[in-house]
Parts: sequence; C-alpha cells; structure tokens
Amino acid sequence: MQIFLDTANIEQIRQAKALGIISGVTTNPTLLAREGSADYETVTKKICEIVDGPVSVEVLSETADEIVKEARFKAAWAPNVNIKVPITPEGLKATKVLAAEGIRVNMTLCFSPNQALLAAIAGASYVSIFIGRLDDIGQDGIQVLEDTLAVLGNYPGLEAQVIAASIRHPMHVTYAAMAGADIATVPYSVLMQMIQHPMTDIGIRRFLADWKSVAKDNR
Ligand code: G3P
Repeated sequence: MQIFLDTANIEQIRQAKALGIISGVTTNPTLLAREGSADYETVTKKICEIVDGPVSVEVLSETADEIVKEARFKAAWAPNVNIKVPITPEGLKATKVLAAEGIRVNMTLCFSPNQALLAAIAGASYVSIFIGRLDDIGQDGIQVLEDTLAVLGNYPGLEAQVIAASIRHPMHVTYAAMAGADIATVPYSVLMQMIQHPMTDIGIRRFLADWKSVAKDNR
C-alpha cells in the first residue's frame, strides 16, 4: 500500500518527504483554508516542487462544463497534478471527458461501493472512500472500503486505484492495509503516530543506558 499525505501544509510535506515513505499528496479546499490560503495555485506549485508523485487538487465548480474547464486549468499547474472531482452526475460527465484527455481524476467524497464503481467506469484513476466520515455517522467505513475493493477487484479492466481517505487514527491505516487498499492518504499527525511506540522509546533508552554502563568514555 502506498502512503499519501493528506495536507496542504508545506512544512509537513517537507518533513514527511524526508522520511522517504510518502508517494503523493492529497489536498482539498478545507485543508487549504486550514493553512489560511486562498492561493491554490501557489500552494500546489510549491507542493509539486517537493513531491514527485501524484498531487490531488480539488475543483470547486459544479457543472460538467465548468469542472472540465477548471480541471484543465489546474492540471496545467504541474505535470503531477491530479484533479479531485466530487462524485455527482456532473462530476461523472466531467470525469469521462477528462480521462479521455489524459487528465487523471481522483473521484472524491465517495461513501459507497456503487459510487466508486461508477467513478471507475467513468475513467477515474483514483476513488477516495471517506472512512472517517462514514464512522462519524455510525456506519462502518472500513467495511465500505472492503466492499469497494471486492467490487472493483472483480473487474480488472477498471483501472481506478482505491484510496482510503478521511483517516483519523493509525488503526484506520492498519485496517486499510489489511483490506488491500492501494493507497491510504493520512494526516501528518497520524503518520507520526504510526512511527511511534512507547516500547520502542523504552527499548532505545535501555540499549543506550546498558551500553553506557560498560562503554564509559569509550563510545
Ligand atoms: O482528502 C480528503 C479527506 O481525507 C478528508 O478527511 O478528515 O476531512 O474527513 P476528513
């Protein structure tokens, strides 16, 4: 499973890139707003300078024609820009057009296997299943992810990769990997939690203390 970073924070992207384990970045209007920026273009270009892999950038238009126009404009910001399009009838129409032009679409705000299936048939390169938001309303986000993977797995001709999105905690990542998700897009805080374990910290302190007790000045 690949790990994408779900943020528009440049410093977090730099830090995560330095770890050598992220393959892409996903953004959305909320994440931009969190950084206090309405300059999507400048932020995207900065991210694309740091990250070689796919960088998802969301459209704000709602009709197919407008989505296509906005997507073409944003896709020209950098070669690795993907366009996040919400799953709606207009979004599907736009996805068909964009896919035919070679613009890679990340169909976003998917909450069911049927939405993901339609997105894949329309030609989306990625479908994002919002696990955390499903859990928030008392549904089982991981179950929806598993069902989506089962459905799309039946049709190898459909090329969409499944992104586990709206990740809230490290166990979401573990379950997404167990389910066989192609990608999990994780917030920086969750990435840090994934690295840490109290027993690792205790182990390091014990190794250093034991070594110090025999090595003295000889380190
Ligand atoms: O990238 C979109 C998705 O991951 C958003 O997550 O936490 O706003 O539900 P969240």
